[in-house]
Amino acid sequence: MIELHGKKFIPFLTSDVIQNRIKELAELIKKDFFERELILIGVMNGSYMFISDLCKAIDREISIDFIRVKSYEGTESKGKIELLYGPQIDIKNKEIIIIEDIIDTGLTIDWLFHYLYEQGVRDIKICTLLSKPGKNKSKQKINYNGFSIENQFVVGYGMDFDGLGRNIPEIFTEFIE
Ligand code: IMP
Repeated sequence: MIELHGKKFIPFLTSDVIQNRIKELAELIKKDFFERELILIGVMNGSYMFISDLCKAIDREISIDFIRVKSYEGTESKGKIELLYGPQIDIKNKEIIIIEDIIDTGLTIDWLFHYLYEQGVRDIKICTLLSKPGKNKSKQKINYNGFSIENQFVVGYGMDFDGLGRNIPEIFTEFIE
């Protein structure tokens, strides 16, 4: 059990389980993109550990860049998303894979689709380590899904609780007493 900001979390997915699934996702991507240009766009900050392990497991020529967005949780502006950093590499007319840590409500992914197509991207695939199908309202297809989980809050492996927990190599879930 760990505690972050006084909130308790218990082990959920071990390093081995995460790494084995990443190897499987890497194989699928390698196969689907055989002899095709491969561009990964990581969504900061949460995806940094995932994209790091995933790109090593893919083990071929890859272009990598990042996008960073900020979402507001205020009552008035719920669902409003602002761009903080956009990809600097040439994505016009290219096929890209968005790399997410977790898809929750799906608002971020919907916003990213809209923004990236506006930038001239030709096609977008989604790769996420975790998804919450019970909460995801997006209609976008998740092409590469690590694990589907319940409507629970998780931390670790890049994901934070109020700024803490990103450096934990495993994934923990909130402990409901
Ligand atoms: P969405 O727009 O609701 O799909 O939210 C996506 C973003 O919210 C993710 O990229 C995470 O940064 C954050 N998020 C959603 N659920 C969790 C969670 O359980 N733990 C930590 N971060 C989360």
